[in-house]
Amino acid sequence: MLQKSISEILVPNTISVSPETLTSEAVSIMKTNKISCLLVIQNKKPVGIFTERDIVRLLYYGVHAEKRKIAELMTKPVFTVDGHINIYQAHDLMEKNRLRHLVAVEPDGQIIGVVTQTNIIENLETEYFFQTKDVSKIMTKDIVTIDKEHLVQEAINKMAKLSLSCIVVQENKAPVGILTERDVTRLFHEKAKIIDLKIKNVMSHPVQTIPVGTSLYKAISIMAQNRIRRLVVVDKNGKIKGLITQYDTLKELEWRYIEFLNNILRQKDKQLLEAKKDAEAKLIQSEKLAAAAQIASEVAHEIRNPLCVIKAGLYYLKQILPKDQEAARKSILQMNAATDKATSYINNLLSFSRPPMLQLKLVEINEVLEESLKELPAQILSCIEVTKDFEPALPQIKADPQLLKQVFVNLIKNACEAMEEELRVKELRIKSEEIDKRVVQIAISDTGCGIKEENLTHIFNLFFATKSKGIGLGLAICQRIVEAHKGEIEVKSKVGQGTTFIIRIRA
Ligand SMILES: Nc1ncnc2c1ncn2[C@@H]1O[C@H](COP(=O)(O)OP(=O)(O)OP(=O)(O)O)[C@@H](O)[C@H]1O
Ligand SMILES: [Mg+2]
Repeated sequence: MLQKSISEILVPNTISVSPETLTSEAVSIMKTNKISCLLVIQNKKPVGIFTERDIVRLLYYGVHAEKRKIAELMTKPVFTVDGHINIYQAHDLMEKNRLRHLVAVEPDGQIIGVVTQTNIIENLETEYFFQTKDVSKIMTKDIVTIDKEHLVQEAINKMAKLSLSCIVVQENKAPVGILTERDVTRLFHEKAKIIDLKIKNVMSHPVQTIPVGTSLYKAISIMAQNRIRRLVVVDKNGKIKGLITQYDTLKELEWRYIEFLNNILRQKDKQLLEAKKDAEAKLIQSEKLAAAAQIASEVAHEIRNPLCVIKAGLYYLKQILPKDQEAARKSILQMNAATDKATSYINNLLSFSRPPMLQLKLVEINEVLEESLKELPAQILSCIEVTKDFEPALPQIKADPQLLKQVFVNLIKNACEAMEEELRVKELRIKSEEIDKRVVQIAISDTGCGIKEENLTHIFNLFFATKSKGIGLGLAICQRIVEAHKGEIEVKSKVGQGTTFIIRIRA
């Protein structure tokens, strides 16, 4: 209920009139339809509102209004609100602006409907009314009363000056009637000669009363049953003690609104804290990056050249080695592979230390996937069943094919490494498809060991690795490249079943 918006509770088909309507006609519409206000619209947009309070004001100033257009006498500009605001916000606005009606509009100004205090009350949970046990806590105690022998004009003047929606008529401190805005509207409609009228002749009576100590819930029920908006509270001798109006019943709502705002603040604080944590994590990651960048550039100079010398030396040795030296040849091959691995790590580290510079081309993603598979050493794919589930007519995407290849190679390598020790069927599945208009998705799945849930949030971190031979660079690089393409990468995994990495890139 807290979040119920006013567009859910309002009266959608509010009766509206044009600004040209004559006041007498407008009052007649209000009377026939038993409504407290009329919306004045022009070009489907609200330009004013005409309420019972306006009629009291007219009579106070003695304006001969029957033949005047409503445009001159309505309240304008009309106070409009967004239909998404909730009940509490609506009540708060009514309270602050002393309004009894709010006009809800769409962002383009089109009317959704009118919200009244009655709508708000009808939509509050019963529990709200039970919280205030006794009406005497919220009733208006110092009420303005008038004697029944007085003139109606006097009552109207008081109502207009003090902005009252009604005035209680008393005789020996007991309530004998009530004069409300609705009664005044009726008089106006009947073109009554107000000047000579006495209150006792026009007031509504008998007046509905409740004893002090009545529960708020009971009071609300009586108002609803009798379709009235106010009750006079009397003591055991029947003397006036106060007045409780629909408006009073909403007094406690203010606290609810504050509570509601506090909740929002708490939520925002939480979000802020999370964002701060996130920012801190990013900072740590970027500090790691800076460290990696420094190591990388130093290592690259110090190790890359010697590695090249070793590789060239191994090549030379292989050439001159007599054909019958099988053991030595094997050893050279192993050294060569180890050198390649070391070079590849250094290259990875180096590429990570620099932000990826994209060389964009129109790319056929299926071709890049095929090439990535070819890039992997044959023995890594042996014993693995590879399924290529490529959607044939994928849209071309604007991407850097070399960098994307680096992503796919890393992911496929990880998939194969995860299945190395598994005794189950080793299946690598690569699927490409257009999931949304011009969004290409690539999923790389394996039936390997899977990733523990507690590790899922860490695997993209630099240097996070659970493998003895891994250094935790691969996924950090993948994420960086995919994000440089404004794409996204995510993982789904179940320990003992397998893992799927999903990449989405907009074509
Ligand atoms: N397909 C997968 N199945 C199970 N675990 C995986 C998979 N892919 C990644 N991981 C986990 O994520 C960690 C990080 O992967 P990442 O590729 O970044 O590093 P690495 O493979 O350990 O080392 P490197 O890629 O630098 O050689 C791995 O050590 C592993 O624990
Ligand atoms: Mg890896």
